[in-house]
Amino acid sequence: MSDTKYDLSEVLISEEQLQKRVAEIGAEISRDYRGEDILLIGILKGSVPFMADLMRKIDLDVAIDFMSVSSYGGTKTSGVVRILKDLDSDIKDKNVIIAEDIIDSGLTLSYLKDYLLKREPRSLRIATLLDKPARRKVSLRPDYVGFEVEDKFIVGYGLDIDQKYRNLPYISWVKTE
Ligand code: IMP
Ligand code: MG
Repeated sequence: MSDTKYDLSEVLISEEQLQKRVAEIGAEISRDYRGEDILLIGILKGSVPFMADLMRKIDLDVAIDFMSVSSYGGTKTSGVVRILKDLDSDIKDKNVIIAEDIIDSGLTLSYLKDYLLKREPRSLRIATLLDKPARRKVSLRPDYVGFEVEDKFIVGYGLDIDQKYRNLPYISWVKTE
């Protein structure tokens, strides 16, 4: 962990707001997939709190799996998507929902979506806690969005800067580096 000190804003999205919105998305998914099973795929590590809360708000049979990809260091994009950990399970004919912390340029998920579609899932949707549509470099529309946010660097509830603040139960933004 680095010794850099970051100046965080006041709470941008409170724990209560997060919990309420995640429950709404869980209910929406439960309605949309009624009578079917789903496989939730968490993109490590940022999706962990969102995924853990979301799965408990889905009233269906839910299997989980994880992928790990690298695209960022600090606050800058490298533009490169590398698969560090692939799925343990076969997704052919499954209803797959990717759970992501935030969509920024969209590069990571647009790559992952194409990558997973080659395995012929029955369906593939994207659930993101946060969306920064102003930053999009490729066209990518998530199916479930928690909150749209401005173009600021955000931390907490899974999101990090230099691996810090993932454990905050709320979301703030970083004022200075
Ligand atoms: P994209 O490929 O540009 O859409 O990048 C998405 C990934 O970048 C997310 O899964 C995060 O890991 C990271 N990221 C983008 N914006 C932020 C932010 O404001 N705070 C923390 N991580 C971010
Ligand atoms: Mg991420």
